[in-house]
Amino acid sequence: MSHFAQVARVPGDPILGLLEAYRADRNPTKLDLGVGVYKDALGLTPIPRAVKLAEQRLLDSETSKSYIGGHGDALFGTLLSQLVLGADNPLLESRAGTTQTPGGTGALRLAADFIGHCLPGRGIWLSDPTWPIHESIFAEAGLRVGHYPYVGAANRLDVEAMIAVLSHLPQGDVVLLHACCHNPTGFDLSQDDWRRVLEVVKARELLPLIDFAYQGFGDGLEQDAWAVRLFAEALPELLVTSSCSKNFGLYRERTGALLVCTADAEKLQDVRSQLASIARNLWSTPPAHGAAVVATILADAQLRTQWRTELDGMRRRVASLRLGLVEALRPYGLAERFAHIGVQRGMFSYTGLSPSQVQRLREEYSVYLVGSGRANVAGLDAERLDQLAGAIARVCAD
Ligand code: LMR
Repeated sequence: MSHFAQVARVPGDPILGLLEAYRADRNPTKLDLGVGVYKDALGLTPIPRAVKLAEQRLLDSETSKSYIGGHGDALFGTLLSQLVLGADNPLLESRAGTTQTPGGTGALRLAADFIGHCLPGRGIWLSDPTWPIHESIFAEAGLRVGHYPYVGAANRLDVEAMIAVLSHLPQGDVVLLHACCHNPTGFDLSQDDWRRVLEVVKARELLPLIDFAYQGFGDGLEQDAWAVRLFAEALPELLVTSSCSKNFGLYRERTGALLVCTADAEKLQDVRSQLASIARNLWSTPPAHGAAVVATILADAQLRTQWRTELDGMRRRVASLRLGLVEALRPYGLAERFAHIGVQRGMFSYTGLSPSQVQRLREEYSVYLVGSGRANVAGLDAERLDQLAGAIARVCAD
């Protein structure tokens, strides 16, 4: 008897699977615009200098590899919540707490199980489209998953349609919002749009879960936190998932946190007891290294300045690649059609290319985009903009 005979094969991950196909491609001019990692002019995903310096310090000063607690590194938690909510936010005194998680994805999974265990019957509403892993994480956790419109057929942000659907959600349901650098589209809400969403959240008594995976990649560290802080100030309860993968370049170190705001200090302890218990079943205690690096950087004025400068540099580079791509498309008469690439924020652009155009880009030009038409602009290089524009022009011509 074979125990595994009935185990069927499932399709590969739509994003990570692209990496394998890219690596197997022998074309020397291949271009990887799939998974969301930042690349420098040499095509490398650099370790920020601030991270290297912090790691050197840790190498000398670390005295133990014993477990860190269920909520993770306490200094990391304090400093990360200051980064998210603002250093002088009164919530930090007793109404907000972080639980360290393996990356932002771990934070999402922890949030999903928390909702499933502690808020039974609540559905979760995701933007259409959203990061594909949002769909599977919440479905796997047994939540009822629904969608609100976000980007319409013409590849434009459709706030009216979004508000119309949010206004009719079942009272008490959870709504997942992207704080900035919306994944996969790159279309962000304006401050006025956020205020409108907040009013609906209040009116329907929804619980917002804000996914904050790209702090510092949109308009700046503080600017990107604007909506999170608006919601934290206006609402008694809030969930925020924070990731250090992109802004600290710590991708493989799996460093993130679930931040919870509660109505009072007593309730915070109740919620945190549940989170520690759920996390114990998921990963027991979180990995230490990435969080120690982040804490070392944020606690040291010099390292912090160094990191901020490097993060600003990454953000500016991505913004200039966006504009550069629109310019590179101009000679083909496509600058207007793709002008949205210059307006979108963060790593990703929903290009508006169809699945068959994406397939042709891959098969004929070795350009790898996610099937939805999402391009990781942060994977581009100024030298390759003309090559990409030419390939896009050719698949758009037919
Ligand atoms: C992405 O969307 O490409 C990133 O968030 C990386 C990932 O884990 O999918």
